[in-house]
Amino acid sequence: MMAVNPSDLKPSALAFVPFVSVDNMMKLVHAHGVEAFLTGLASEIEADFKRWPEFDKTPRVASHSRDGVIELMPTADAENYGFKYVNGHPKNMREGYQTVTAFGVLSSVANGYPILLTEMTLLTALRTAATSALVGKYLAPEGAEVMAMIGNGAQCEFQAMAFRALCGIKRLRLYDVDPAATDKAERNLKAQGFDVVRCSSPEAAVEGAQVITTCTADKQYATILTDNMVGSGVHINAIGGDCPGKTELHRDILLRSDIFVEYPEQTRIEGEIQQLEDDHPVTELWQVMRGEVAGRRDAKQITLFDSVGFAIEDFSALRYVHALVANGQFCEQLDLLADPDDPRDLFGMLTRAG
Ligand SMILES: NC(=O)c1ccc[n+]([C@@H]2O[C@H](COP(=O)([O-])OP(=O)(O)OC[C@H]3O[C@@H](n4cnc5c(N)ncnc54)[C@H](O)[C@@H]3O)[C@@H](O)[C@H]2O)c1
Repeated sequence: MMAVNPSDLKPSALAFVPFVSVDNMMKLVHAHGVEAFLTGLASEIEADFKRWPEFDKTPRVASHSRDGVIELMPTADAENYGFKYVNGHPKNMREGYQTVTAFGVLSSVANGYPILLTEMTLLTALRTAATSALVGKYLAPEGAEVMAMIGNGAQCEFQAMAFRALCGIKRLRLYDVDPAATDKAERNLKAQGFDVVRCSSPEAAVEGAQVITTCTADKQYATILTDNMVGSGVHINAIGGDCPGKTELHRDILLRSDIFVEYPEQTRIEGEIQQLEDDHPVTELWQVMRGEVAGRRDAKQITLFDSVGFAIEDFSALRYVHALVANGQFCEQLDLLADPDDPRDLFGMLTRAG
């Protein structure tokens, strides 16, 4: 019988991939501070939007079922490939599960090896908020300080923190069909120093707000905002309409708004604009960020960010976290990749370990 070489039993250095657990992600965010983390992340997203043509792009691959959706979101540039696994199950919250959970991988294009595996439930909330606020920086009316937040679930506080850090929002007007959600958001946001007003209806929430964020979860064509609720000059940050058959705004609002999107090919399937003709004009945000197309043109214009969440935002987040954990802090080394001494002797590695 062949002697077992102890080095066969111990993974080589190439076997290990940095893994950021939920626990480490929380420590990493706290080490920087939530707002500084969001601001840094928004800069990464902005830099990647500005080099949009360099990316491989495809609408996400969605597997729909009666209660939800499971999606894969891939993209790549010349150096890195990234993907996120994410679900969306609006009924989950009532059963004690998160509506949205996620994890993701960043890889080297050169050899295909993964270089990061990370939780992305928190990171999705952070990147969604960073993207919304980054877009708000380009589209929200000058001097906006008041934001209505309709839907006070898991994403809500992240949105508020990002809008304060990037756009100067100070006052929040909260509404949710479930008062317990508003209790939670009010508690968390007051503790962060926000001036918070609880509202008894969506109509009350939008009063005096220059920015309206809708982040509800419902697996249907919902009408969170009707046309009469939206006055001239506001910016709408609509993040909860992100699946076929799942929208938040009345169609008439869309017809009065200038609509800004991430990737039209995906947004036309999943966003608010699924309610419109396929050729309804929309503006791509990367072009606004590059200064090629106007964002907000005047104080009366209604701007709408029809957010669905695009793979490049997750790619930016993966690269941001990868750089932050490069010193070995806030991650564990996971024995993820089989690495036999002789790359062709994968079977030998297996048998020697028996
Ligand atoms: N665009 C993006 O990039 C992106 C990213 C993440 C999540 N999302 C979407 O954002 C939404 C919110 O996600 P979450 O994780 O906060 O979900 P969540 O389930 O934690 O919270 C949703 C909240 O919406 C409330 N709600 C439902 N219907 C409502 C209505 N008619 N009026 C007012 N409130 C209502 C619920 O009571 C709940 O508190 C989901 O639809 C999710 O799919 C979008």
